[in-house]
Amino acid sequence: MKITVCLTDLRPDSWVADLRSALPDAEVEPWAPGAPQADHAVVWAPPQTFIDEQPRLRGLFNIGAGVDALLGLRLPPSMRIVRLDDAGMGVQMAEYVCHALIRHFRDFEGYEADAREGRWSFRKPRDRMDFAVGVMGLGVLGQRVAQAISTFEFPVLGWSRSPKQIEGVECHAGRESFDAFLGASRVLVNLLPLTDDTRGILNAKSLSRLNGGRPGGYLINVARGAHLVERDLLSLIDAGQLAGATLDVFETEPLPPEHPFWRHPRITVTPHASARTVREVSVAQIAGKIRAMERGEPIAGVVERDRGY
Ligand code: NAP
Ligand code: GLV
Repeated sequence: MKITVCLTDLRPDSWVADLRSALPDAEVEPWAPGAPQADHAVVWAPPQTFIDEQPRLRGLFNIGAGVDALLGLRLPPSMRIVRLDDAGMGVQMAEYVCHALIRHFRDFEGYEADAREGRWSFRKPRDRMDFAVGVMGLGVLGQRVAQAISTFEFPVLGWSRSPKQIEGVECHAGRESFDAFLGASRVLVNLLPLTDDTRGILNAKSLSRLNGGRPGGYLINVARGAHLVERDLLSLIDAGQLAGATLDVFETEPLPPEHPFWRHPRITVTPHASARTVREVSVAQIAGKIRAMERGEPIAGVVERDRGY
């Protein structure tokens, strides 16, 4: 069995070495133009040339959870696209979102500003019952995040395409319940995949529904930059309708130095760092799935191309 590794801007050496150890019977090589046809590929943002030169790949294993970039390529119908299932990202995403939520709710940013001035300040405690958190996307990462938030006793709502039952989470499903979900949420966490249905879903109309349409809503976007209409967010914050945002993903990455998000006092920016791929765990997961596929067994995380995730 031949495995090719194409990670575009990332160095493949450690991935190749770890895959060789995990699959000692396989021939694992970094991809270069003109390389022989392989059976499976481990990829991140491969170019179209890679797909065109490897038309008989059976499995295309993405070293991330989101497959929007891969689905933008022309892919033979026979090629199975497989995303990472958690693989160490769930706990990181839970840390990141809980940190952003609590930093906002407890006004730690305000205390930090006071501390810089040497000011021993009092900030009135807020009632967490007024800070319902809505999680968009209740998949592998969204469920993990919703459950982590509920341990801090915030009211938690969730929204997905198909109906769900999750303890401690008021679950909504489908477009028909989107407005009710938004209206009942004060803090909105985005963990949707980027698809034709979800592109631009965070816009003036949806964001102004937060908190029952009253000022004070807050956005945490950790999914994809193209979910958000960036100018709408800025207008709503500057008009005082939204309290602010924590953003990890952007329409253009890296975020250009002149972008207003960098210096906005109500916006916290991180460089697509909320949940990094953990190589060791990911290699073990991918190797396990390749072995299962070769035995003809079903595997988790196969992307349904029609729905886009
Ligand atoms: P997942 O398991 O595929 O979950 C996706 C969830 O979104 C599912 O609950 C799905 O509903 C829901 N959904 C999809 N389309 C919808 C629609 N049109 N309306 C309502 N709900 C919809 O994905 P995941 O592993 O949790 O990852 C989510 C996303 O996080 C990834 O696609 C990626 O973009 C992003 N991500 C970002 C980082 C980062 O570092 N910033 C790291 C990892 C992942 P059903 O349950 O009904 O199917
Ligand atoms: C990172 O953004 C991922 O999709 O894993």
